[in-house]
Amino acid sequence: MSVDDPFSMIIFGASGDLARRKLIPALWSLYAARTLPEPFAIVCTARTDMSDGEFRTRMRESVGEFARLHPPSEQVWERFAAALCYVPGDPTSPDLYPRLEGRLGEIEAKLGAANRLFYCATPPSLYDDIVEHLGTSGLAHSGKGWTRIIVEKPFGRDLASARALNQQLASVFSEEQVYRIDHYLGKETVQNILVLRFANGIFEPVWNRNHVAHVQITVAETIGVETRGSYYEEAGALRDMMQNHLLQLLCLIAMEPPVTFDADPVRDEKNKVMRALRPIDPTRLDQIAVRGQYGPGFVGGRRVPGYREEKGVAPNSMTETYAALRLQVDSWRWAGVPFFLRTGKRLPNRVSEIVIRFHRTPHMIFRRDPAGVDPNVLVIRIQPDEGLDLTVAAKKPGPAMMLSPVTLDFKYGEVFGEESPEAYERLLLDAINGDATLYARGDWVEQAWALLDPVLTAWGRTPDPSFPNYEAGAWGPTAADALIARDGGTWRNP
Ligand code: NDP
Ligand code: BG6
Repeated sequence: MSVDDPFSMIIFGASGDLARRKLIPALWSLYAARTLPEPFAIVCTARTDMSDGEFRTRMRESVGEFARLHPPSEQVWERFAAALCYVPGDPTSPDLYPRLEGRLGEIEAKLGAANRLFYCATPPSLYDDIVEHLGTSGLAHSGKGWTRIIVEKPFGRDLASARALNQQLASVFSEEQVYRIDHYLGKETVQNILVLRFANGIFEPVWNRNHVAHVQITVAETIGVETRGSYYEEAGALRDMMQNHLLQLLCLIAMEPPVTFDADPVRDEKNKVMRALRPIDPTRLDQIAVRGQYGPGFVGGRRVPGYREEKGVAPNSMTETYAALRLQVDSWRWAGVPFFLRTGKRLPNRVSEIVIRFHRTPHMIFRRDPAGVDPNVLVIRIQPDEGLDLTVAAKKPGPAMMLSPVTLDFKYGEVFGEESPEAYERLLLDAINGDATLYARGDWVEQAWALLDPVLTAWGRTPDPSFPNYEAGAWGPTAADALIARDGGTWRNP
């Protein structure tokens, strides 16, 4: 995989939660697994005043706590740590950039190359400033190697702001240099959706309206908003999860086969799905969208507070912590097949899965036990119990013709044994190697906002007086059951 170009990664917001829990542990695990191209340097920056040594000590702790692989020996850690340095400074101030340039100059002289991967891990309101300063300072144009930039989510908060950010990026970088991250695309099981569909001959012939009755996509979390109350107040479930992770999953399920598994062919096909999604009619929102907010309750046997009691959340907050949508892909393949998407915090189980529910058989010959014959269901389990299961009808042993559903189950852990790499490991490595297949393209992001803008506007205008409308530990508001029941379905609640 690796092309072994020496490179420097420059992380803005490096004193933050993302760098501590995800980025540095992922880079370490890649290094420890000998998959990170070498030589490399990781230049970290944030306002907090720290020396290189203090920053390395902090990161040693993070790696111990969060990395998939633990340091095999202090010598190996020391070799990795020698590539880490810290430049304190405010990313909104032009003064920081010449200092970064100076440090990079020294490093690149030793590396023998000026390949730069910038990473925006600050609050999103600062991306504009960072991009502008990277342009005006010349840091984005070393002229001596490749330059790329990874931009964290959320990418904008509506269509207008996403467009503005795309334009700002385009004023400094070309589209091929911009990597918009969606960590769901780096999950092994999400990548496996395309393998399942396009490396096996048996699924494609039934993957359409003739055989599929409906599709359910669930991303359920047991956690609340933890320490991110003030961020979440501005976001809500629709912006935080639906606009990115769930719509990406929908695209992977609904897309046509790309010509090759390369960035543009894959992303072109995903864009076609976005274009085929029927625009949401705000006058029929009650038939299409459901929102919820958790009140106090019990999750995993533990009493937990309601959303409005969380730190950083307004006592009368109208932010949704649950969202469900009924979408339709108006294409030859999917006409008439509803796609139900739901996501929420403080639900009973942490589970992300996709359910493909097939039609009933056209005629039932086993008349004496029609109840035993459920339609086939394929479940793609994204996490935590990664795998697939397919439910089929079988004859119960015995003299009578009694039927029973049985499940054919494939578990990643049992078959492959080894622990899967973290999503951030795969995505960082891809960006370092210049492969944007698993990143979102600018036009996709804009289309996702264009789809959801009517819902965001309507929900923003009309508060829901029933909030909080589900107890922590329940499967969301009852209106979500009605949403799917109108098409004769029920949610699979694993
Ligand atoms: P933080 O709020 O922890 O911010 C990261 C760093 O940015 C802080 O440590 C801070 O460093 C710096 N910063 C904050 N405010 C300012 C400011 N006004 N001016 C200059 N610098 C500032 O964010 P996270 O690390 O949690 O997230 C970073 C990005 O990643 C965000 O865009 C977030 O949405 C995204 N993300 C995060 C996830 C997570 O799990 N944390 C998950 C998915 C996405 P200092 O004070 O030292 O300057
Ligand atoms: C992030 C959201 O993008 O995804 C969080 O901002 C959410 O609110 C997280 O908790 C879920 O990711 P995962 O990988 O734990 O399913």
